[in-house]
Amino acid sequence: ADLTARTSFRVPARAAWLVEVSDAGSLPAVLEDPRIAGAELLVFGGGSNLLFAAPLDGVALALTGDAVEVVGDDGDHVVVRAGTGHGWHGFVQHTLSLGLSGLENLSLIPGTVGAAPIQNIGAYGVEIDQRVHAVEAWDRDAGRPVRLAADDCGFAYRDSRFKRESGRWVVTAVEFALSRTPRLQLGYAGIGAELATMGVVEPTPALVSEAVCRIRRSKLPDPAVLGNAGSFFKNPIVPEDHAAALLDAHPGMPSFAAGPGWRKLSAGWLIDAAGWKGHRDGDAGVAPGHALVLVNHGQASGAELLALARRIAGSVQARFGVALEPEPRIVGASW
Ligand code: EPU
Repeated sequence: ADLTARTSFRVPARAAWLVEVSDAGSLPAVLEDPRIAGAELLVFGGGSNLLFAAPLDGVALALTGDAVEVVGDDGDHVVVRAGTGHGWHGFVQHTLSLGLSGLENLSLIPGTVGAAPIQNIGAYGVEIDQRVHAVEAWDRDAGRPVRLAADDCGFAYRDSRFKRESGRWVVTAVEFALSRTPRLQLGYAGIGAELATMGVVEPTPALVSEAVCRIRRSKLPDPAVLGNAGSFFKNPIVPEDHAAALLDAHPGMPSFAAGPGWRKLSAGWLIDAAGWKGHRDGDAGVAPGHALVLVNHGQASGAELLALARRIAGSVQARFGVALEPEPRIVGASW
């Protein structure tokens, strides 16, 4: 099956099989099919966090169910359950139209509901682990459905059990804990500035969503126009003394608290400072507006983008002594 058009990088992407399942109830039978049971399985959402460096000699499995229902409501706290196949941004907009607050900072992130907990998506001061009530999944090791409370999902920065033990879990639905009372997170500096530009005096969840959309559109290339997978690297977390030494040498370098003894650096700043912003190797490039985003200008292959990513990481390592790790899942090669 050709998956190229279903991935946001739009590099040539193939799998031996593509299996689409609309009813999670039929998943056990599908997984028992002998053609699938022994094969390598890639659970496939919006294809927005994947880089195909080589074809997948296995099965790409897409769960397309997109039902949304309210499963708990105490008057203020509302639990909304959504099928994995629902587009993420459309789901966020739907919760806002129901008068629910909690996901507005995560507006316009590409991908699906089912992909959100895998890498614990986050933006503008909110990570999805703060909003997940439970994750429903099929446990391939135990051969049974499970419902994991948020605390059992092993969430960390851009990480989860589902990502670390990717062969084991197939996420089938996600439950989110939202609220009717707006609990706005305006800590990320850019949001306040954007709301001010919009002339907003009293922010609402819908207005925060609009501000986030405006910031994203101004900074990040639209995958529908220029192939990309969002941030290509995670922001590196380094020991405090290493961060302090770098700050001495580069007083303008952004850095953030990351637990006792650690600081999170900005991969975008490091790559930019190493001179890569806007760089191009053929059709594999670095976005002109944001150094953390690798882009496919048209005909790049996954292997070419991976080679560029390795050169960038090598140059940041040589210059700052910081190891960068990729954020998207790489198919057919290891980092
Ligand atoms: N910066 C530069 N040059 C650049 C890009 C960024 O100097 O080319 C500096 C910025 O000026 C800023 C700092 O780096 O001081 C951080 O940049 P930004 O606020 O754009 O955020 P980020 O750390 O690069 C992270 C997430 C994004 C998320 C934003 C906003 C990761 C890997 N990325 O990016 O998530 O939208 O914060 O919260 O954590 C994604 O995961 O795909 C993604 C886009």
